[in-house]
Amino acid sequence: MPRGRGELRIPCSARNDGSRPGVPMLTTEENELLTRVGPGTPAGELLRRYWHPVGMLPNLTEGTPTKHVRLLGEDLVLFRDRSGRVGLLADHCSHRGASLLYGRVEERGIACAYHGWLYDTAGHCLETPAELPDSNFYLTVKHRAYPVQEYCGLYWGYLGPLPAPTLPRYDITEDYPIKSVGEMAELTCNWLQFVEQNVDQVHAFILHQDVGSNMDKGKDDPTLNTTRGQIDQLVSLVYTEAPFGIKRRQIRVNGYDETNLIVFPSAHRIYNQLSIKVPLDDTHTRQYHIEVAPPDGPDEHSGLNGSNRDIRYVADNGAAEGKSPPQAAHPFARYRMDRLRFQDFMALETPGPIFDRRGEHLSTSDAGVALLRTMLKREIEKVQQGLDPLGVIRDPNQEPIDTCMQSYAEVIRQFPRTGRALSRGGAG
Ligand code: FES
Ligand SMILES: [Fe+2]
Repeated sequence: MPRGRGELRIPCSARNDGSRPGVPMLTTEENELLTRVGPGTPAGELLRRYWHPVGMLPNLTEGTPTKHVRLLGEDLVLFRDRSGRVGLLADHCSHRGASLLYGRVEERGIACAYHGWLYDTAGHCLETPAELPDSNFYLTVKHRAYPVQEYCGLYWGYLGPLPAPTLPRYDITEDYPIKSVGEMAELTCNWLQFVEQNVDQVHAFILHQDVGSNMDKGKDDPTLNTTRGQIDQLVSLVYTEAPFGIKRRQIRVNGYDETNLIVFPSAHRIYNQLSIKVPLDDTHTRQYHIEVAPPDGPDEHSGLNGSNRDIRYVADNGAAEGKSPPQAAHPFARYRMDRLRFQDFMALETPGPIFDRRGEHLSTSDAGVALLRTMLKREIEKVQQGLDPLGVIRDPNQEPIDTCMQSYAEVIRQFPRTGRALSRGGAG
């Protein structure tokens, strides 16, 4: 029997005063603490302890060896030199500020197009061609440079203090063949709005009530009440802290029982997809996704182990498709509401570029949001004490992160219509 009104139980391991209805959750100072991502900000310093995707492998070609990257409020240039080395440098040349996006790559690195200062991938200046031949001036110049790695068809950058931690590996990307990798259009919203949507799964039963694939909805269970949507299909949602993030377990009336992992601080394994939210700056966020073949048969478990063979690359402009005019945001844009991901875009952007959480009223169904914020505050404090925050890996032999793929395998066996990757760019 579907539950009646008032029977919604969403147990959670974390509760605080903010989970009571009608209590404003965050002060202005707390909101700033959790949302600002630039250098020197508390959340920015936390986020700098992790690797973030900065592009897809096909973004760099012989003809176009540079790519502009915006990450954590910094303007950067990703490039591949003619020796095959990949670098991530501050965009503005150390000489007089021209963009290295227009630099000429050669075997030793990238030379600024303006006066030819040449930098290697570590930011060493190797040449200042307009100086006298015997000048050692170039030795005094060190350009800001960050480590880059390739994994799963993506370039990953790290902006934090050295030594950089190990790039995380995941069971989903290590044990299953990668089918596609996607770089989504940027959304005009702060990173926390995006991540909070992943720990706010009740929204799927209301916001996405009319896009049936997400609900495994058949002809026999039409939405009877648009206010309640599919919420009466939900028995429980439980958010619990796990070694690498937050486990989200959802049980529905029809026996659907699925657990996935929100990987701290900004990724999510949902169905056969790992989605990663990248904070570009305070008010813009981009999502990347890695989609694997669902575990339909034993042959598909051969796995590419993070390699980039046979991957389909998707540059998705969904954010622009989902609203009109495409470059506008709320209240100047009108959002489409006929697709799951566009519905999510509406919910992510309309609170504003940085949602002012002083006005919110968290309820019991926001227990996951409360848990995430509690963890963020705690991990920010750890960084301020000089400690590694949750999920930073130093051991290169660390086992891949367990994102509960066993649960997914069981779901897709029982509910094959439900357990496929979400529409590209949707947050869940
Ligand atoms: S501005 Fe780059 S070399 Fe002068
Ligand atoms: Fe959603």
